[in-house]
Amino acid sequence: MRVLVTGASGLVGSRLIKLLSSAGHTAIGLDRSGSELAVDMVNAAAFTDALSAAKPDAIINCAAMTDVDGCEREPSAAWAVNAEAPATLARYVRTHDCHLVHLSSDYVFDGDRGGYRPDDVPNPRGIYAITKHGGEQAIRAVAPKERFAIARPAVVYGWPAVAGKNNFGSWLVDALGSGKPVKLFSDQWVSPTHALNAAEMAAELATRRLPGIWHIAGAEVVDRVTFGHRLCERFGFDRALVQPSRMADVNLPSPRPAKSGLDVSRTSESLTARPWSLEAALDRLHAEVKGKS
Ligand SMILES: NC(=O)c1ccc[n+]([C@@H]2O[C@H](COP(=O)([O-])OP(=O)(O)OC[C@H]3O[C@@H](n4cnc5c(N)ncnc54)[C@H](OP(=O)(O)O)[C@@H]3O)[C@@H](O)[C@H]2O)c1
Repeated sequence: MRVLVTGASGLVGSRLIKLLSSAGHTAIGLDRSGSELAVDMVNAAAFTDALSAAKPDAIINCAAMTDVDGCEREPSAAWAVNAEAPATLARYVRTHDCHLVHLSSDYVFDGDRGGYRPDDVPNPRGIYAITKHGGEQAIRAVAPKERFAIARPAVVYGWPAVAGKNNFGSWLVDALGSGKPVKLFSDQWVSPTHALNAAEMAAELATRRLPGIWHIAGAEVVDRVTFGHRLCERFGFDRALVQPSRMADVNLPSPRPAKSGLDVSRTSESLTARPWSLEAALDRLHAEVKGKS
C-alpha cells in the first residue's frame, strides 16, 4: 500500500514512516523541509499537485501547528495549517480512491468533565483547539464518510524526532535527569500518549481503511503531577523535584482543558494496536532515551 504521511519530520509522523516501511508499505513523507516531498500544505494548489503525483492509497495527516500558545499569537497561520489544509485533503479523497486518517486532538473538548467518548460533542476553547476542530469539521463536511477517520491522540511524547524540539516527556527527562525541579499541574487530567503507540493505531486505521472517530490515546488518565512521579519511578529520578502547582492559578496565553481524559474503549475493543498502559509507554520512553545516550 502507498501511504502518504504529512508531518513526516514530526513526533508521530517520523515514527509512522519507519513503522509503515518496516511493515512492507511504501511510506511517502511530506513536510516543509527534510522529507521526500517538501511542500507547504497551506499552498492548496501545490499540495494538491503533490498528492496527485504521489498517488497514495491512504494519507495520514500528522502535520499541524502544534504550539498551543503560538497559535494564539498567529491565529491565521494556525487556521491555514490546522483547518484549511485538512479541507484540501478532504477534497482530494472525495475525488480519489484514497483513505484519509486525520490526527486531531483531545483539545477539541472543553475539559469540564473528562472521560470523553469519540462521539461526544466538542466544545473547543482557544485558537489551537478551535482550528483543530475546524479541521475535523472540514473533513466531515466534504469527504465521504466511509473514506476518512478522525484520530485524536493527547499529550504526545517520546524521544524527539528533531533534536532540541522537546515535548512533555522528553522535557521532563532532560530537566529531572539533570536534577532541575519542575512545576507540574495537579489540576489538569490528561491521557498521555507515547508517539509510537499513536503511530501504531493511526497506521492500522489507514491500512485497514477504517472510518469513524477514534481516540488513539494512552490507556490511563492521570494528572500531570502523577505522570511526573511515575516517570521519576521508571527513570530513578528524585520525585521531590516534581513541584505541584495549579493551572487555575496561572495565566496561560491559551486556555487548556482541565479534564481532557479520553475514553479509549472503542479503540481497545476494535484495533489490534491497543492503547498502551502508562507503564508500557514509560518503558518505551526509557528504552528510547537509553538508545540515544
Ligand atoms: N504533540 C502533542 O502533544 C499532540 C497532542 C494532541 C494531538 N496532537 C496532534 O497530533 C498530530 C501530530 O503531532 P506531532 O506532535 O507529531 O507534531 P509535530 O512534532 O509538531 O510536527 C508537526 C509536523 O507538521 C509539519 N508541518 C507544519 N506546518 C506545515 C505546513 N504548512 N506544510 C507542511 N508541513 C507542515 C512539520 O514539518 P516542518 O517542520 O517541515 O514544518 C512537522 O513535520 C498533530 O495533528 C497534532 O495536532 C499532538
